[in-house]
Amino acid sequence: MKFLLFLGTSRDSSPPRPKRLGQRVAKACLQHFESQYFENQANDVEIELIDVLDYPLESIFKPHFAYAKGRAPSALDELAEKIQAADGYIMVSPEYNHSMSPALANLLNHFGSSLFSYKPSIILTYSAGQWGGARAAVNMRTYLAELGCLPVSAMIHIPKAQEVFTEEGTYETNQNDAEWASYFERGFSQLIWWAEACKAQRGRQNPNDALVRNPAQRNAPSD
Ligand SMILES: Cc1cc2nc3c(=O)[nH]c(=O)nc-3n(C[C@H](O)[C@H](O)[C@H](O)COP(=O)(O)O)c2cc1C
Repeated sequence: MKFLLFLGTSRDSSPPRPKRLGQRVAKACLQHFESQYFENQANDVEIELIDVLDYPLESIFKPHFAYAKGRAPSALDELAEKIQAADGYIMVSPEYNHSMSPALANLLNHFGSSLFSYKPSIILTYSAGQWGGARAAVNMRTYLAELGCLPVSAMIHIPKAQEVFTEEGTYETNQNDAEWASYFERGFSQLIWWAEACKAQRGRQNPNDALVRNPAQRNAPSD
């Protein structure tokens, strides 16, 4: 199974320091996946990092699906293929003004819900402050549900991430590695469970395409 880890920070400037705190969080997630799933091969799991900074977008918003076939920028085409091929998503976001990262929402908004649908996601937020992005996570749940990749119930929040992880994504020496690993594991095991279940069901029955046929089908009947 294939997972995409979206890293939602584009803030390559400071203050506030440290910049791109999310890189440490993303590295820690990748390392967790490697140690839990690649080394003991308990699951056939692959993970790929999608960094919002690798996708410079036009200032005039034109979603991938708004281009005529074959006319979209190749980076968008490639990402659309990866999203379609993935079995689940790890959405890593900083908290900005109690909301999810606008850079993450902007990148995701370029793709239709049909690419994400019938697959699970997990919300992972972090911040330099004490709440770990919990307020951003609340609105991410609504956002991701509308995008079609329903978030699993477990969420991961990392308060004061600069004190938890080194720049390499390893734990700072005063941290309880085992406790953090079990916290990650609860969320990721839910994600993998749902991804396996959704994959099996997609193989059994093609998803009904109500989401993509006609936007008017989302409207409530008028009489
Ligand atoms: C515009 C802006 C808004 C912020 N809002 C919040 C906030 O609502 N809650 C919070 O805990 N931290 C907030 N912070 C601090 C971030 O948690 C901190 O800067 C963190 O490093 C952001 O992640 P990043 O470096 O990966 O972009 C904010 C930072 C910025 C730049």
